[in-house]
Amino acid sequence: MPPLVAGIDSSTQSCKVIIRDAETGAEVRSGSAKHPEGTEVAPSAWWEALLEALEQAGGLADVAAAAVGGQQHGLVALDADGQVIRDALLWNDTRSADAAATLIEELGGGTDGAAAWTAATGSVPVASLTVTKLRWLADAEPENARRVAAVALPHDWLTWRLSGSSDIRDLTTDRSDASGTGYYDPAAGQYRYDLLARALRISEDQARSVVLPRVVTANEQAATGDASRGWGHLVLGPGAGDNAAAALGLGMRPGDVAISIGTSGVVSAISPGPIQDPTGMVTGFADATGQFLPLAVTLNGSRVLDGAARMLGVDHAGLAELALAAEPGANGLTLIPYLEGERTPNLPRATGSFIGLSLASMNPQDVARAAVEGLLCGLADGLEAMTALGVPVESVKLIGGAARSAAVQQIAPAVLGRQVQVPEPGEYVADGAARQAAWVLSGAQEPPSWTTSAVHTFTAESTPQVREAYASRQGLIAQRD
Ligand code: XUL
Repeated sequence: MPPLVAGIDSSTQSCKVIIRDAETGAEVRSGSAKHPEGTEVAPSAWWEALLEALEQAGGLADVAAAAVGGQQHGLVALDADGQVIRDALLWNDTRSADAAATLIEELGGGTDGAAAWTAATGSVPVASLTVTKLRWLADAEPENARRVAAVALPHDWLTWRLSGSSDIRDLTTDRSDASGTGYYDPAAGQYRYDLLARALRISEDQARSVVLPRVVTANEQAATGDASRGWGHLVLGPGAGDNAAAALGLGMRPGDVAISIGTSGVVSAISPGPIQDPTGMVTGFADATGQFLPLAVTLNGSRVLDGAARMLGVDHAGLAELALAAEPGANGLTLIPYLEGERTPNLPRATGSFIGLSLASMNPQDVARAAVEGLLCGLADGLEAMTALGVPVESVKLIGGAARSAAVQQIAPAVLGRQVQVPEPGEYVADGAARQAAWVLSGAQEPPSWTTSAVHTFTAESTPQVREAYASRQGLIAQRD
């Protein structure tokens, strides 16, 4: 019997576990459980969901290795006893938007400040990044900030819980997730305690006594499982941020781009060298194999379609049917989809707009089409920003919940102006985590080459006028109070 490996995806909305054959990658069993709603969540809820998903997946007794892919950036602040100090602030919580602006100001402001941050960490701080959440904590909850003895990310904390340790010095992470904190330099592979100190308004000496998770190499064992739960035999991989795990699950190489439309909309690519974009459109994260993972992330992903379907009183299939019944350009109607504020571009207080309503466009078909086109235009901007930075772009794969929409599949090639491939629907984050677990187990230099799923290719006539209308109207938005 070849060994089994478990891949865990602790995402914003749920926890998924996939157990695979370590040699062939064949799926053996799986489980999933929901996470609570909201942008502030008790980490114990992720643990409960993980236990439930593991139980559904038949447990870990016969599994040799596991790894966790998780939503990036969430702040899990721990005290000296390893207790969670307050509910975690997630990547999509925008309360630290002012903190992000202040941190840029403190390093010189404007383009100078942004360039200083990208030189130090690969990214310009936005409300999503952990560093801004720490500054928010220092200012809004100084009592809590004073108790911070360790700072972990969701996947770090879950790996640690799987190991059964309660000693904060045993916390581990990997470079992909560390690179999303805003206090780690992915190019040099080291933490920036000066920036951690700045965020917490403490001295660098004090910051050095805050425990940051040990950064474990991609194919290195992070820990073993909790013996008291019968997991003493389990090899735990370092895990990864969800986007890096998805790239590993898809087997991405330089030239491959993934557009993932889940809660967030993510354009990601593999770059052999570090990427720095002081405009902030592209973040210069690390990947889960030793390369880099430039990302452009929008806050408004599949929920744009959820909202549009709700507004039109239809389900997702109905929304797709309506959108495909309309002409490209939706009779002049554009949706700027900043429904929950936006991160790329950095407009945390923005709201969305419908612009160009006329009697001709005020119908369900054009409203549906504008929703799909608006969502895709934001992602097309991200892809263009990557190309402008010299990131190689040869093929584009569409993944995530919204990639199942017939309208997204058919309209994406028109808006992006290039063919897109849609792999079979799958849990690519959990798959990447499982692949990493198999890699750690094998002790090999390269991850195992599992068969990749079949792809469907979609082509369409390019509709540059849709992006032109979007670009000229993008600024026509109201700010939230
Ligand atoms: C990446 C990001 C999101 C979360 C969602 O920077 O914020 O993709 O990782 O899970």
